[in-house]
Amino acid sequence: MQTPTNISTKEMTYSGYKVLRVQADNLDQLHYLRNLSETESDLSSKINFWSEPDRLNSSIDVMIAPDIVNEMTTKFGKQNISSKTLINDVGKILDCQKDTQNPTSLFYLAPNDTTFLRSFQSLANIYQYMDEVTRQNPILCSTEVIGKTSEGRAMKIIKIGWPGETKKEKPIVWIDAGIHAREWIAPATALIIINKLVNGESDPEISPLLDTYDFHILPSANPDGYEYSRNFDRFWRKTRSRHRASWLGLFCVGVDPNRNYEFQWKRVGSSANPCSNTYHGPHPFSEPETKAIADHVMKHRERVKLFLSLHSYSQLILTPWGYTKDPPKSYPDLMRVAQIASRAIKMRHGTEYEYGSSPSILYMSAGGSDDWAHGTAGIKYSYTFELRDKGAYGFLLPPRLIQPTGEEMTDALVAMLNEIKKELS
Ligand code: ARG
Ligand code: ZN
Repeated sequence: MQTPTNISTKEMTYSGYKVLRVQADNLDQLHYLRNLSETESDLSSKINFWSEPDRLNSSIDVMIAPDIVNEMTTKFGKQNISSKTLINDVGKILDCQKDTQNPTSLFYLAPNDTTFLRSFQSLANIYQYMDEVTRQNPILCSTEVIGKTSEGRAMKIIKIGWPGETKKEKPIVWIDAGIHAREWIAPATALIIINKLVNGESDPEISPLLDTYDFHILPSANPDGYEYSRNFDRFWRKTRSRHRASWLGLFCVGVDPNRNYEFQWKRVGSSANPCSNTYHGPHPFSEPETKAIADHVMKHRERVKLFLSLHSYSQLILTPWGYTKDPPKSYPDLMRVAQIASRAIKMRHGTEYEYGSSPSILYMSAGGSDDWAHGTAGIKYSYTFELRDKGAYGFLLPPRLIQPTGEEMTDALVAMLNEIKKELS
C-alpha cells in the first residue's frame, strides 16, 4: 500500500529490496498477511505485495525494503509463516534491465524486423509501431482512439482483419493488455501478436483467421500507469487518477482498474481504501480507461466472440467467475477451450499454464474485466491470461523471454480461435 502523498516525481530505485515468497497455511496467517497489505502504516512503501495475499496454501510474493527485511522475517517466523528469498536484490535487476530499455527508432522498420519487439517499449513507441504497421498494411489494419486516460493520453487500438462482405459482419476478437501497469510482458506480448497477425498472410495457421475474424487489440489498457511505471516506480499497478484529496491535501493516487468494472463491483477481493493496491474506485467505471474499453466492447458486443485480458505473472488461464466460486453456465466450454490453449502453449516451448476459474486457482475478486465481459457484455469466451513467469523474475521478466512468451501466446490464440470457429454460424 502507498503512503498518502503529494505527487512524487523522484524515481524509486529499489536498491537492496528483496522479494520473499511466503505462504499462509491457516486463516490466522492469511489475516496477518492481509492486514500487512491493507493496514496504513509507515511501512507502506516498504512492503509491496507482488501477489495478493488472498489464498491459503499457495505462494504469495512480497517485496520488502532492506532496512526492515530482518524485522519482517522475524515477524513471519513468529506467525509460523515460512518464507524464502525469491529475488535477492530487486535494484540490481532493475539496473541491468535499464540498458535494454532504450528506444529503438522505427523509421526503417522492415515488415519482418523483430528487433523492436525484443525490448519493452515506451508508450510512444508502441503507438508509433501501431501507426507504422497500419501505414504498411492499410487494407488489413486501421487504428482507433477509443478514449482518453485521466492524464489525457490516448487509448489506442489496432484493428486487424481483411474487410468482410458488407452484409455479414465479422466476429471480433478483443485483446487488451497491461491494465496493470507493472506487468510489462503483457503489452510486449500484444505487440508480438500484432506482428504475427500482420505478417500472417503466408502463414497457413494465421491467414484463415484474418478472413474469419477482426482483431481489436489494445496493447496498453493503462497508459498513464505504464509510463509512470517506466519513469518513476517500476512496481506501480493502478491507474493515475486522483479522486479525492483529504483536508490535509494528502491523497493516494490511482484505482485498480481490474476491480473497477461494473459487474458485482466491490463484492469481494477489492479494497475501499484509496491507498490500497486493489482499490476498487469511488464508483464502477470511475476510470476513463475501463469506461472506454467497456463502451467500445458494448458497441460491438454481438460480434465479440472472444475477450482476452493479458496480465502477468503466474502462467495461468483464468475463466469467469472471478467474484464467486459458483461456476457460470458455460464453464464446461470455457474449460475445454482453456485446456486447448494450455496444450498449445506447452507444445511450443514446454511452458506449463494452469487453467481454471480465478477462485479455484488464484483468488476471488470482483470488478474484473473478464467477469464484466462474460456477465454484462454476454461474451461467452472471456479469459484472463497471467503470462510468464512463475516468480523467478516476476514482473521483472528479462527481455529475452518476450519472444517465447509472445510465440506461445499466439499459439494459444490460434488454437482457441480454431476451436471457437466451430460454434460460429
Ligand atoms: N491477477 C488478476 C487480478 O488480480 C486476476 C484477475 C482474475 N479475474 C477476476 N475476475 N478475478 O486482477
Ligand atoms: Zn494484473
